Amino acid sequence: MKIALFGFGTVGKGAYDILMAREDMHVKYVLDKRELPEVTESIVTSNLDQILSDPEVETVIELIGGLHPAYEFVKAALEAGKNVVSANKLLISLHYEELVGLAREKGVSFRFTAAAGGGIPWLVNLQRAARLTRLSSVSGIMNGTTNYILDAMQTLEQDFDVALAEAQRLGFAEADPSSDIDGLDTRHKTTLSANVAFGVALDDEKVDAFGIRYVKKCDIDAAVAKGYCLKLIGRACRVGEGDAVAAFVEPTMVPAETPAGNIHGCDNIITFEGEYIGKTHFVGAGAGRYPTGYAVAQDVLDIAEGKAGLYNEGMAAQSIANESECHPYYVRGDLSDPFFAALEKTPFGDGFKTEPATVRAMHDAAARTLAAGKDIFIAGFMM
Ligand code: HSE
Repeated sequence: MKIALFGFGTVGKGAYDILMAREDMHVKYVLDKRELPEVTESIVTSNLDQILSDPEVETVIELIGGLHPAYEFVKAALEAGKNVVSANKLLISLHYEELVGLAREKGVSFRFTAAAGGGIPWLVNLQRAARLTRLSSVSGIMNGTTNYILDAMQTLEQDFDVALAEAQRLGFAEADPSSDIDGLDTRHKTTLSANVAFGVALDDEKVDAFGIRYVKKCDIDAAVAKGYCLKLIGRACRVGEGDAVAAFVEPTMVPAETPAGNIHGCDNIITFEGEYIGKTHFVGAGAGRYPTGYAVAQDVLDIAEGKAGLYNEGMAAQSIANESECHPYYVRGDLSDPFFAALEKTPFGDGFKTEPATVRAMHDAAARTLAAGKDIFIAGFMM
């Protein structure tokens, strides 16, 4: 198969090496604004039209990242009748219906296994599960950078900034690590997972997300003292009797003896739960050049073998029912907001454990407190 690779960064180089090591795959073009003297077996160009008008190119791999120009380039590739493989969770979670719909209309494949879980074959197995069973939830540690930071703060007693710098040095963190530490990267992956699991198209920007930017050592100490680990968890689950779905990202008090409590460094764990199968956990490298490049290359091989080209055959836009998901929280900081003040609370380290509260109300109160320039940290209790 002849391939065009858009972007030659960390993951681009990984996918390139893996595919070029095979006899049956050839990356004919690398689209990049830079000159790449190390790329000698492919045509390096910044000319999109040259690539899209080449009938030999069947599949485009988009690893530019970010929204623009990735959005325009992916659309152009689909319009031109090329299969597209991408690891771009931001792009795909924000433009899910449009891009999946365009691929369907054009009769091409659009695969993005590497966009959630890095090298873990998560979405591909989630799709298999969803076709045979009604799934009730998807959840897990979906961001290597934040897991690295929380783990290093707990086990190595490192400061937040030192741990973040190390995650950046190791190549896990996003170009702008705000996306990692504010929970947005996890939000995109949660949205994609929910879309595949439940056959929906969630509005990513409506998924409540509270990251780890405001975590302090005392929060981690409070967790450990009571037999928990603090982890950033993305979760989407069915709520109520019908098809309503809640979806949110929040630091979470995870019992230390559970699988998620034992995920260290930049590893991820993602879990689905459904009829027939119960809980199934997927654990592995959620980021990095070769793990993510491997997932990209697997998608290309699947396309070459004629496997299912789309993750969703049918989907419907769906509102997010976070007012229907309720659990206790750990809260620490300025609790003068009337919502926090009215909650029943028991002491928990330097903060409190609250009575069950809805995700929507808790995240709204935390957002109001931050907007007022006050200190707040919240963490859900895993149920
Ligand atoms: N910044 C992401 C992470 C990269 O740390 O998990 C993989 O999506």
